[in-house]
Amino acid sequence: MKKYNVLVVGGGSTWTPGLLKGMCSRKETFPINRLVMYDIDYDRQQTIGEFAKVLFNEEYPEIDFSYTTDKEEAFQEDIDFVFVQMRTGGYAMREKDEKIPLNLGVIGQETCGPGGFAYGMRSIRDMVELVKDVRNKTKDAWILNYTNPAAIVAVALQQIFPEDKRILNICDQPENLLRSYGRLLDMNERDFDPVYFGLNHFGWFTHLYDQEGNDLLPKLRKTILEGGFRPADYEQRDQSWLDTYAMVEQMVQDFPDYLPNTYLQYYLYPDKVLNKLDPEFTRTNEVQAGREKRVFEDCARVAEAGTTKDSNVVENDAHGEFILIVAESIAHNKGNNFVVILKNDGIISNLPDDAMVEVATSLTANGPRPYAVGEIPTFYKGMIEGQYAYEKLTAEAFIEGSYSKALQALTLNRTIVSATKAKEVLDALIEANKEYWPELR
Ligand code: NAD
Ligand code: G6P
Ligand code: MN
Repeated sequence: MKKYNVLVVGGGSTWTPGLLKGMCSRKETFPINRLVMYDIDYDRQQTIGEFAKVLFNEEYPEIDFSYTTDKEEAFQEDIDFVFVQMRTGGYAMREKDEKIPLNLGVIGQETCGPGGFAYGMRSIRDMVELVKDVRNKTKDAWILNYTNPAAIVAVALQQIFPEDKRILNICDQPENLLRSYGRLLDMNERDFDPVYFGLNHFGWFTHLYDQEGNDLLPKLRKTILEGGFRPADYEQRDQSWLDTYAMVEQMVQDFPDYLPNTYLQYYLYPDKVLNKLDPEFTRTNEVQAGREKRVFEDCARVAEAGTTKDSNVVENDAHGEFILIVAESIAHNKGNNFVVILKNDGIISNLPDDAMVEVATSLTANGPRPYAVGEIPTFYKGMIEGQYAYEKLTAEAFIEGSYSKALQALTLNRTIVSATKAKEVLDALIEANKEYWPELR
């Protein structure tokens, strides 16, 4: 079997150990020849890179592995897959994305609302550079991107590189939800055939077929309404994630047609969610005290001890496995079904062609072959159109350096609504993001 050359960008991410473990467990189905990890932060990359050496020595000695902060070493002509998971500005800026809006009385969240806007405006710049760095060396490599906000990154990359058919933006949340349904029903998520529509972090499952062709959605709806909803890996989750999943019950009660993505809580109940968020201690603080601390301490310990024995570093294996099974389906033209982000072009027939939608597709060597969704009902169409306009205006605000488009974007966002508030938040975010954003005029 062909062996693949993989580059991980953002190799110092908290999610990297899970990805590396996934590479070990999938080496028969997705064999890797050379793996390079690249990051701009040497210390983060070194800690994870030294962990990787110990892990591979034990489980994958045949892999040709290295890590670097040098672009020349990282970007090579024979790369097959680039896995991207960078965070421009790091957790320091994520904290501002959350706290600045919260202190002004609106939702502050990594990917939704004004926090997602601020993060998007930072990510676009580095993601455009990344695509250019890869394409300077090879037109053939698949760029599989996790970098958030994937919705906005997808819209911007589509506008800037419209002809590039080998950039695929993905999100692990539909996969997390499928696994959670699987745990509720005592079934394996790979045995589900899901129907899903929407935008990234803004979508709904409409059907979930089993292998006998039964639609399990009615049963799931009933189970959730009777007993609530938890993530598949709830034993390992922080309280804020448990609260987020619990909100699915409320959403299903109020809008019982479909099963919602958890991120819809910010748009459907901004007032209620806002009351639960603490501007003094946000998700960033929780991650830094939790996942980030555990991952970096554990990786350092493994490197020091020279063995992964007693290490428990993987946080949520769905994340690492998902990008690998996506790559596998492309590499081997398997045509497996995955929910991914792609240009609408009629998939959802009553939405604009240029929207970057998230839907079920068959993933092949020729990329995602989407399953048609057809027309969606008025409520969902209205919600998505508003959100898509926000995403598009955000990308255009970046590309054109336009203050008025930025203001329009934030005014359209359901987490804000008031133009006065939008302006106040925008001005504060501009001040905080001077180093990262283009000048908005
Ligand atoms: P993290 O800060 O721990 O890791 C990001 C790494 O990227 C850091 O080590 C940082 O130094 C590095 N980096 C920053 N800018 C870079 C650049 N220009 N080039 C190369 N490396 C760069 O963050 P994390 O919480 O582990 O998340 C990593 C990324 O994955 C984030 O964008 C996050 O939002 C995203 N993510 C997406 C999904 C999804 O569903 N799409 C799921 C989980 C995480
Ligand atoms: C889910 C989403 C990702 C997001 C992550 C945030 O997996 O799909 O897009 O980045 O959650 O997790 P965190 O634990 O960093 O808040
Ligand atoms: Mn996501």
